Amino acid sequence: MDCNTIRLSDSPRGIRAATAILRQGGLVALPTETVYGLAADARNEAAVSAIYRAKGRPAINPLIVHVPDLAGAEALVQFNDQARSLANAFWPGPLTLVLPLRDDAGIAAPVTAGLSTLAVRVPDHPLAQALLQDSPLPLAAPSANISGKVSPTEADHVLDGLNGRIDAVLDGGPCPVGLESTIIGFDPGPTLLRPGGLPRDQIEALVGPLATPKGSAISAPGQLSSHYAPETRLILNSEADAPLWLAFGPLGKRKGISLSETSDLTEAATTLFRALREADALAKAHGHATINVDPIPETGLGAAINDRLRRAAAPVAQKR
Ligand code: TXA
Ligand code: MG
Repeated sequence: MDCNTIRLSDSPRGIRAATAILRQGGLVALPTETVYGLAADARNEAAVSAIYRAKGRPAINPLIVHVPDLAGAEALVQFNDQARSLANAFWPGPLTLVLPLRDDAGIAAPVTAGLSTLAVRVPDHPLAQALLQDSPLPLAAPSANISGKVSPTEADHVLDGLNGRIDAVLDGGPCPVGLESTIIGFDPGPTLLRPGGLPRDQIEALVGPLATPKGSAISAPGQLSSHYAPETRLILNSEADAPLWLAFGPLGKRKGISLSETSDLTEAATTLFRALREADALAKAHGHATINVDPIPETGLGAAINDRLRRAAAPVAQKR
């Protein structure tokens, strides 16, 4: 693309325009409850390939397909009883299930990057639902950022990375959850492939203890390398004196940004990616080499927050 990306408003007209672009094989960034996704018709091979090009995403890293409801997912993958009970409990919502791809799914090959499984999710956002129902297309959508960078939770964040590389962004304001979906595989028992916006304990209450992936590169390729990375170096679990902080709790006399003044994990999750962007900009503006981050508890959403922070802090040598 050599022109600017169109910003579409949250209106019937904006939804119609986004639908038309998707039907023609174009790329539209759309809001979900977790983060903005970069959507294309999952049945259209050229459109799906364009997602990888726009993001600079390695071709081995498969995409999540978004559908309007459980019936839409059943048309694409084979459910087991545990997967169905998770879908019934938590869809629409921040949960992705990785299940065997059906032979008759009709999904374009690059979506699965050669795997025999497909990741599916039913998003809980009125605009994402409107596009899924109006088009009506299964939508392949990774987070709408340049591969390896911080995920977008506002339309402006999408444009920061992808302006001119995609056709449109549908502006739905800030994403309420702020962290990507929790990904569960079945290999053969329920396995936590990525902590995310649905806390582990809620899932375990339904299906029992979740296994940890066996470290195979293929089970979740995007999980192995550094991701969510600002340009400034992050120092985690910090207690030293430092010029710039991402605080959890009151900032006090320190300079920086608090993820939640009241130490609320839900608020910190919603704020995290915006705060990483803003802290990065502050560090550059004031010439600081590091951003120090307060310790954050591992409970509930804290596990996913710490996961993202660890990847954001991974040394450059480990970054892909
Ligand atoms: O909340 C979310 O999940 C957002 C919104 C837009 O829905 N999407 C998102 O997509 O985070 P993405 O592409 O940034 O992350 C998807 C992750 C990748 O790490 C990918 O490797 C993994 O899902 N994945 C996709 N298909 C898979 C499969 N068949 N088996 C294992 N992992 C898979
Ligand atoms: Mg991503």
